[in-house]
Amino acid sequence: MTERRASRTAVLVCQGRAVAHGRIAPDRFADPTAMPLLREAERAQVSRVRDEQPPNGMAERMQYEMIRAGSEIIVPRTVAIDDAVRAVPTPQVVILGAGLDGRAWRLDLPGTVVFEVDHPASQQEKRERAAVLEGEPPRYVPVDFARDRLTDALKAAGHRDDEPTTWIWEGVVPYLTRPEVAATVAAVTARSAPGSRLIVNYQAPSLLGGVARKLIGAAARRFNPWAAEPWRSTWTPAAMSRLLATHAFVVRRDHDLLETATALGVRPERATSLRNGRIALADH
Ligand SMILES: C[S@@+](CC[C@H](N)C(=O)[O-])C[C@H]1O[C@@H](n2cnc3c(N)ncnc32)[C@H](O)[C@@H]1O
Repeated sequence: MTERRASRTAVLVCQGRAVAHGRIAPDRFADPTAMPLLREAERAQVSRVRDEQPPNGMAERMQYEMIRAGSEIIVPRTVAIDDAVRAVPTPQVVILGAGLDGRAWRLDLPGTVVFEVDHPASQQEKRERAAVLEGEPPRYVPVDFARDRLTDALKAAGHRDDEPTTWIWEGVVPYLTRPEVAATVAAVTARSAPGSRLIVNYQAPSLLGGVARKLIGAAARRFNPWAAEPWRSTWTPAAMSRLLATHAFVVRRDHDLLETATALGVRPERATSLRNGRIALADH
């Protein structure tokens, strides 16, 4: 991601949610905010996938496949995180690297203050897109994890460090270096009252996954969302658990997305991506 440009990977995952809405595990997954958060051309791509109308050109076909594959990954990821958020209600929820996440509008969390932290360029675009959504918006907190002090920015936005927080960190860790991930966890700990919970989605190492993403991205040419947002870190469950323990978070559960997909009855074509996508739930 560059200084001026909003996240394209955020658009891709939002397109995945829009494709999945009402089609994949509809009894457990729904995201009515996804389609309204997209722009016209992005919605047209979603409609093609929903209608199962693959285009002919190679680059267009790769874009189509990327969005389709994303829809399979996003459902177990969303359901696992939503379940964890609802399981232990807290007065504050902070979504780190929120992108086009619609949880602030979609989840019914009465009495909970929701903060959205994101890179300033992505957040500016989110604010414009979210103007069409009904309901109370989150408190927006612009932060570049690579440069800014998350602790100060949250405090200034009214986040309280004497009340428990549920932290949602979905689809962001791969885009940060290991020191950036560690610094963010340290900042999260600094603002976590006892009873806080961190829900972190991360990628386990996979040689083939990285190669496949590069090939698909190159074939999709200008649409390639990973051109400006390369993956910078993957973590084994043991390494993630050690990092969290260093910062006073105890991992209660760490599972891969294939487990959740199987429980949902979703039969993905790309089991490898789901096996390497993980969610750790850690308590402070
Ligand atoms: C793949 S999107 C995920 C968005 C959202 N969490 C979701 O799952 O739908 C990656 C997000 O990470 C954010 N991000 C990446 N690098 C960042 C940084 N250095 N500082 C702040 N946000 C960053 C992007 O702005 C983008 O919103």
